[in-house]
Amino acid sequence: MSRTIYSLWLAVLAVYSFWISLAHAVSGQEPLKGATEGRGYNLGEPIPVSCLNRTVETGEHITDASGQLQYVPFPTCNETGRPLELFFGVEQSLNCTLDFISDPFFHLLEFYIHNDAPLSCRIPSKPLPPSVLEKDFREVDETTQEGALGSQSSLYTPLVVALSGTLQLSHLHVGNDLNLLVHAKPKSEDPGTIDAATAYSIASHTRNARVTIGDSLSLHFSVRWYPSTTLPPGWSGYGGHLYKSTFLYCLLSAGASAAICVAYFRGVELPRRLKRYAGDRMGVGRGGGYGLPVANGRGNGYGGYGYGIGTGNGKRID
Ligand SMILES: *[C@@H]1O[C@H](CO)[C@@H](O)[C@H](O)[C@H]1NC(C)=O
Ligand SMILES: *[C@@H]1O[C@H](CO)[C@@H](O)[C@H](O)[C@H]1NC(C)=O
Ligand SMILES: *[C@@H]1O[C@H](CO)[C@@H](O)[C@H](O)[C@H]1NC(C)=O
Repeated sequence: MSRTIYSLWLAVLAVYSFWISLAHAVSGQEPLKGATEGRGYNLGEPIPVSCLNRTVETGEHITDASGQLQYVPFPTCNETGRPLELFFGVEQSLNCTLDFISDPFFHLLEFYIHNDAPLSCRIPSKPLPPSVLEKDFREVDETTQEGALGSQSSLYTPLVVALSGTLQLSHLHVGNDLNLLVHAKPKSEDPGTIDAATAYSIASHTRNARVTIGDSLSLHFSVRWYPSTTLPPGWSGYGGHLYKSTFLYCLLSAGASAAICVAYFRGVELPRRLKRYAGDRMGVGRGGGYGLPVANGRGNGYGGYGYGIGTGNGKRID
């Protein structure tokens, strides 16, 4: 009897686990629709940067027959031989030298610097699912191209590079020192996911590169990562942050000034006061009147009275 119940129980268990694994298998085969599904980046995982292709004539973005925007990989960096890549969570100084500024690219740079068109790039918010990667980069994929600039696709995070500089007749100056900020979603919410990104030229009037057609252009990115969408407070007055070295410096200078004060007091001020005190004593002794320290007063002051004695007569040492 109990044996029958036991085997019945086993059968139920087997059916149940089969059903569970079947459900898992089915859900695992559903296509990934957005970045909310799928795995996040691991620390240091490369993140490709792609940008809108634009016409050289007007700087307008290029769309295909079905009206979809065309993203192309960021120009190849000489350092790596690959288009620009970021690395998840890695704060670094990243150099990307564009070996040869072609005629079309030069004109695009003019558009960017003249603010006729932004250098609109994007990065995948999470590692792209194989279904997207398998396609040619330029091929239009509905899931990646929703909304203006493809920015409403949850697969990508927009990264607009605000290049600044100045245009001249034959050449241009590009602010090639850039800050690149990336915000990741809080780890508790969605680990390994990018939420926002931006880049901008810094100090473009003093640090820039002169570029003509055929030159190379070296871009220096200072990449910073933030573990949430709020920026940490940065401003603490023009003194800058209270760094450890600043604190140490304060301590040292406090110590040094204390030493100087002590030396001054003992070497200059104390003898002067003693001298005055001795002079006063002499004056009192000779019938009142504040006198200049007399010649023998010095001798008395030091030898006769020593340090800090003889205040019993009510004279104030100030
Ligand atoms: C950008 O578009 C132009 C014009 O359609 C095309 O010739 C060029 O190959 C595209 N750029 C890239 C990198 O695909
Ligand atoms: C980037 O280039 C600058 C200037 O050319 C150089 O000083 C710096 O060391 C380079 N940094 C890296 C990480 O290659
Ligand atoms: C880029 O790399 C190529 C081949 O490695 C080299 O010949 C060229 O001088 C490099 N250009 C710059 C600007 O460093």
